[in-house]
Amino acid sequence: MKGLILSGGKGTRLYPLTFTSAKQLIPVANTPVLVRVIQTIRDADITDIGIVIGDTGEEIKAAVGDGSRWGVSVTYIKQDAPLGLAHAVKISQGFLGDDKFVMFLGDNVIQGGIHGLIRQFDTSGYNSQIVLTRVREPQHYGVAVLRTDGSIERLIEKPKQPPSDLALVGIYMFDKSVFQAVNAITPSWRGELEITDAIQWLVTAGKSVFPYIHKGWWVDTGKPIDMLEANSLVLDELKPVREGASVDEASVVDSRVTLQPGAQIINSIVRGPTIIGENTRVVNSYVGPFSSIHHHCVIENAEIERSIVLENSIIKDVPARIQDSLIGRRATISKATGRPASYRLTLGDYSAVGLV
Ligand code: DAU
Repeated sequence: MKGLILSGGKGTRLYPLTFTSAKQLIPVANTPVLVRVIQTIRDADITDIGIVIGDTGEEIKAAVGDGSRWGVSVTYIKQDAPLGLAHAVKISQGFLGDDKFVMFLGDNVIQGGIHGLIRQFDTSGYNSQIVLTRVREPQHYGVAVLRTDGSIERLIEKPKQPPSDLALVGIYMFDKSVFQAVNAITPSWRGELEITDAIQWLVTAGKSVFPYIHKGWWVDTGKPIDMLEANSLVLDELKPVREGASVDEASVVDSRVTLQPGAQIINSIVRGPTIIGENTRVVNSYVGPFSSIHHHCVIENAEIERSIVLENSIIKDVPARIQDSLIGRRATISKATGRPASYRLTLGDYSAVGLV
């Protein structure tokens, strides 16, 4: 089997972080979501992986390369515009050929692996297998209606009045019959070739499409609040490692904290589950649970909790605790000095600041 990861699209709901960079490269527990997806597919013994890229393709290529770092071989497939998930499948036919494949959305984080699922599909005669899970707001997803025997009755993309709470998780398995489907469907009201419509086409054409109900957690990291949620869930399961980091005697670092090489904790309290990145310095500070501080950051005379801080950022001399925040690359948050006493902000378009 082959793997196909969808990593195009625009990521507008994560502006300003995604103005210039790909949403799939935002790290969760200091590892980009896209890398987690590659590892999940590799752990199911699939090493031939196509990655669909769009406007942010060069950045993705720079981060992932040929995939050999993770023991996989990556082929890039350029999508000129984000015309839909089924469009992405259509343009990948040359790479996929007649092989069965698993398609994984590059911005999804899922609990557990997909090894069992892949084995089941690979050895079955199914034309397709989809993964469903119960969600609180089904109107934001593709939704499935099942018959009492568990088979699929119909699928609808983002219905205003959801007929069920079973959402399509961003993992799909197909054989070559999916190409008939993606070539037969027409664009939806949002102008996209929907994968949900392609799967509905397979169901209507009498192909065998089987649902699998996922019981663990799953996060589509579309919005900042989803990124923080995914970060908390992954940190909660992270096995703490401390290599090549230093903690001075005045600091208290609890057992669920991962310290990456070169991290320095000086006169600070760090509570887990938390990860402190390579060469990051935490000085006279408090870092609370569910925080991911990426590499080459400085946290000094500050308090932060349940937040993600991307690389090379500085948080220094901040009088209030920062919480539930997503802070981009090379950002600086510090106390304003001098008169008049005021907030001094240099914020990118679409930034959001909560002041008390
Ligand atoms: O996350 C699960 C949901 O994903 C499903 O429940 C929906 O049925 C499915 O349509 C999809 O909905 P989204 O609206 O969340 O998809 P999004 O536009 O966020 O795209 C998902 C990934 O695919 C993302 O990494 C970007 C990439 N993509 C998207 C489009 C539209 C492409 O590579 N090419 C595209 O044309």
